[in-house]
Amino acid sequence: CGIVGYVGDGQAAPVLLQGLEKLEYRGYDSAGVAVYDGTSLQVVKAKGRLKILNDMIDGGKSLPGNIGIGHTRWATHGAPSDVNSHPQVSGSGKFAVVHNGIIENYLSLRESLHRHGKAFVSETDTEVVAQLLDYYYQGNILEAMVKVLQKVEGSYALGVICAERPDEIIAVRKDSPLIVGLGEHENFIASDVPAILSKTRSIYRLNDNEIAVLKRDSVQVYNLDLEPVSKEKVHIDWDISAAEKGGYEHFMAKEIMEQPKAVRDTISPRLKDGRIVLDDITLTKEEIERFSKISIVACGSAYHVGVVAKYIFEKLARIPVEVDVASEFRYREPVVNEQTLVLVISQSGETADTLAALREAKRLGARTLSIVNVVGSSIANDSDDVIYTWAGPEIAVATTKAYSTQLAVVYLLAVYFAEKLGTISQEVYASYIEELKLLPEKIEKILENKEDIQYLASKFFNVKDVFFIGRNLDYAMSLEGSLKLKEISYIHSEAYAAGELKHGTISLIEDGTLVIALATQTKLFEKMMSNVKEVKARGAMVLGLTSEDNRMIEKETDYALYVPSADEMLLPSLAVVPLQLFSYYVSSMKGCDIDKPRNLAKSVTVE
Ligand code: G6P
Repeated sequence: CGIVGYVGDGQAAPVLLQGLEKLEYRGYDSAGVAVYDGTSLQVVKAKGRLKILNDMIDGGKSLPGNIGIGHTRWATHGAPSDVNSHPQVSGSGKFAVVHNGIIENYLSLRESLHRHGKAFVSETDTEVVAQLLDYYYQGNILEAMVKVLQKVEGSYALGVICAERPDEIIAVRKDSPLIVGLGEHENFIASDVPAILSKTRSIYRLNDNEIAVLKRDSVQVYNLDLEPVSKEKVHIDWDISAAEKGGYEHFMAKEIMEQPKAVRDTISPRLKDGRIVLDDITLTKEEIERFSKISIVACGSAYHVGVVAKYIFEKLARIPVEVDVASEFRYREPVVNEQTLVLVISQSGETADTLAALREAKRLGARTLSIVNVVGSSIANDSDDVIYTWAGPEIAVATTKAYSTQLAVVYLLAVYFAEKLGTISQEVYASYIEELKLLPEKIEKILENKEDIQYLASKFFNVKDVFFIGRNLDYAMSLEGSLKLKEISYIHSEAYAAGELKHGTISLIEDGTLVIALATQTKLFEKMMSNVKEVKARGAMVLGLTSEDNRMIEKETDYALYVPSADEMLLPSLAVVPLQLFSYYVSSMKGCDIDKPRNLAKSVTVE
């Protein structure tokens, strides 16, 4: 979910709508705002996209007032509906609350409030917060807030306004992101920077259990003992256009096209005089030598980067690597200790499952290193070391440039480790560095020929099932290719290790089933072609993807796509680009909502 708040000289509602538009990537099941109009809190909310709310309040014009809060929702407790939308209002009508996160003990709180005569109108956990505020409020909101926070368990970023104190917003966070934007005679809260970037570049990042009180001309932050906390101003130097579509029809298209720059920005500052220099991290050679294994945790596409990383680290640095989706890692009692490096990968740095896994790893004594895109995010802050991907803001729900930059960091790190551990020679080390430098221009070359992929998408956009198959690194790529297609085009697809297909899933191949065969790894090329023959014999239509070195693929497959030649270890960085473009064009031809696919959200801050 995304939250935003405004207090100042201007009209609140238009600012809230503008902010919510930039946060819609965080969820778009419903949207709502609450504004104090001089006499009472006016709440307008509706199921569906922000546009519906926008039309209901005429772009904010029909909701006058200088203070308000807004919300765009990714439903957790309670189906998407008008009444479950935020803001939630307390029984007395005094408090309006927006919330991102989950109040885990909401049922028991709800029951006890019920016993005290409070009636609930929604199924949300958030309404419990509003009702509790009512229950504890005796003229001092901060004191009531602290009592509420002592009761609730779970994760939250909360924005609250009160009809009795219509000059201030109260905001608090725990395990969910929240920033305060500092303006001239106006101040803001938001889940993320893009929401307020057009208004101010000066922010505070709230830490867990900090309560901020925002007024027109002041912001004061307190701890849970209500002692003032002094905060450091952070200046955001993003280019505003970075968070705009800039002529492209979709953010996803723009972000795909930005990959050469993003990968260059991520790699080149870390290559100096023919060496990989990671001044960002504190890990020493001795510490690296002491690791007995690397355990990678992440979600979604970042997990797929982890799967690639397993192959790369094991091959280059000869360290055993485990990869887990973060939500599984935490509860499987992982064998992790002081000799384990836990590598955490996350674009947003706020994914709740990933953050929880990181904390579990720390509790078990592991050394932690994260690869994160958002500077100052929770995962970045909580890790022992962080290497940032310099992808810039990524808005489309389906990740592209963040994936590519995460992968670039994996290469830097694996080659760096391998050199320190002496598992590769100096010549091999030097050749990887040369190859890494060339990646951005090779990605550019693929993008120059994007029409070839568009053509293939036009042939296949109405298929029902797709199988992505590959071996080794190509299997890792299959996972990402398949996820991209599913996420944005809603076509059912499976990713399968090509050698495993015959052990079951081949039964699903029928006449005309599309199989996308990834075959970039020369050593496994012949084996892959056997698997291609197997599916063709069952009627499949095969689209092969390989590098320019393997032109003979055309003999075996119905269609072929090529990426430039490169060291095989680096080919995932190239192969992912046609897969992204394929999904993008298929989705576009099917008329899907590419940047905001149904049911998803970019940043999932609930477990
Ligand atoms: C969500 C998104 C995925 C993303 C995953 C991890 O589920 O829909 O696209 O890969 O979160 O996000 P993170 O910000 O941790 O990389």
